[in-house]
Amino acid sequence: MALTPVITEHWDDPELFTIDGYRRHGGYRALESAIHQDPDALIALVKDSGLRGRGGAGFPTGLKWSFVPQDGKPHYLVVNGDESEPGACKDIPIMLANPHSLVEGVIITSYAIRANHAFIYIRGEVPEAIRRVANAVREAREAGYIGKNILGSGFDLDVVVHAGAGAYICGEETALLDSLEGFRGQPRLKPPFPAVAGLYAAPTVINNVETICNIPYLVDRGVDWFRQFGTEKSPGFKVFAISGHVNRPGIYEAPLGITMRELLDYAGGMRDGREVKFWLPGGSSVPMLTADHLDLPLTYEDIAAAGSMLGTGTPMLFDDTVSVVKAVTRWLEFYKHESCGQCTPCREGTYFITGTLERFEEGHGTDREMDTLADLCGQISGRSFCALGDAAATPYPAAMKYFRDEFVAATSTPVDQQFDPAASYVFSGAIAR
Ligand SMILES: Cc1cc2nc3c(=O)[nH]c(=O)nc-3n(C[C@H](O)[C@H](O)[C@H](O)COP(=O)(O)O)c2cc1C
Ligand code: SF4
Repeated sequence: MALTPVITEHWDDPELFTIDGYRRHGGYRALESAIHQDPDALIALVKDSGLRGRGGAGFPTGLKWSFVPQDGKPHYLVVNGDESEPGACKDIPIMLANPHSLVEGVIITSYAIRANHAFIYIRGEVPEAIRRVANAVREAREAGYIGKNILGSGFDLDVVVHAGAGAYICGEETALLDSLEGFRGQPRLKPPFPAVAGLYAAPTVINNVETICNIPYLVDRGVDWFRQFGTEKSPGFKVFAISGHVNRPGIYEAPLGITMRELLDYAGGMRDGREVKFWLPGGSSVPMLTADHLDLPLTYEDIAAAGSMLGTGTPMLFDDTVSVVKAVTRWLEFYKHESCGQCTPCREGTYFITGTLERFEEGHGTDREMDTLADLCGQISGRSFCALGDAAATPYPAAMKYFRDEFVAATSTPVDQQFDPAASYVFSGAIAR
């Protein structure tokens, strides 16, 4: 299957991040048409396209927009650019290379959901992305695309770029809202969902950066064009960010339904001609798969049927130099560190799972602890306040399904004596040799 650069099409133009560069490639054409359409027609268009949110859960975007009640309260659009999950690296490159597609998407979406204020929440550790997006907002304001009476439509919009302070949990949509309101970022109880009571208790649409970047292209080119890519349940294309032991890690935009094997070919195959041992389709929060799953179409439905999730669509691939026990331990250390501590199963569970896994890593695990770990994961999953708890309970059961023998081996031999730690090391963008 061929690559389909859309959001990434003109990334080789060094001026793309400027408004002039973006407009040279058709930028803001979609806004000029959208702003004179009925907002409900835009919501219907996005619904008909079948576009699904690219932030991980794959929720239908048009449906989410249609939940916003027309109750006279102010409405808000919040863009989630907090991208902090291990392995996820697509929104930040998009914001750096093509920030105006995000800004144009924000303006069209705000108009469609009748929001006069939009917020773009960006991970604070990436000042370059914050600067690029803030500059794009400034340029769009100077061009009359943001502000009062946009393009003579009578529609007013203000856009605020907000820097987070560096907490993974602030990517969870309701924790993000608390953070934006100036509180400590902790997930809220749902329902009510943000579409009904979100920012400042008013109806709020929260969408991922990549989701919103799809909007200008969709409005400009139409539903039939969009639906020629992907499948009935997973239409469109995806910015896949590939990392790990591949020869050419990076961004590959392709139709949903491409296989991991095809993407791996584009990424130059595995380093040193080695084999794939395990891979995760979309960040550390989704269950791992193996080489047996490389020919699965990368769609929400096919990956779910195989027992994993497409998640953020940012595959991480690992070769046979990597210890599964060690990889799972590193991920759990991340979840333990990032748990906001609000609820007991996640706060205590991630602490106990991590401590137990660390014993396995040192070769001191026991058969009984393997059962304890499975039990702990079962107690966290579905019993936590937000999906971070579920995510933390995911890596161990998936690893046990395919690599039980490695946990057995770690009851007697330290992992570093089984696998050379230097051999499995990866720099981002270049392989350590
Ligand atoms: C712990 C945690 C972290 C998350 N981090 C992000 C993130 O960085 N970016 C993102 O778009 N969604 C993130 N999400 C998902 C959001 O809660 C939400 O589903 C998403 O922003 C909705 O946008 P979409 O419908 O366009 O996918 C996270 C969820 C959880 C539980
Ligand atoms: S599951 Fe974890 S991160 Fe989510 S609210 Fe509970 S303690 Fe916080």
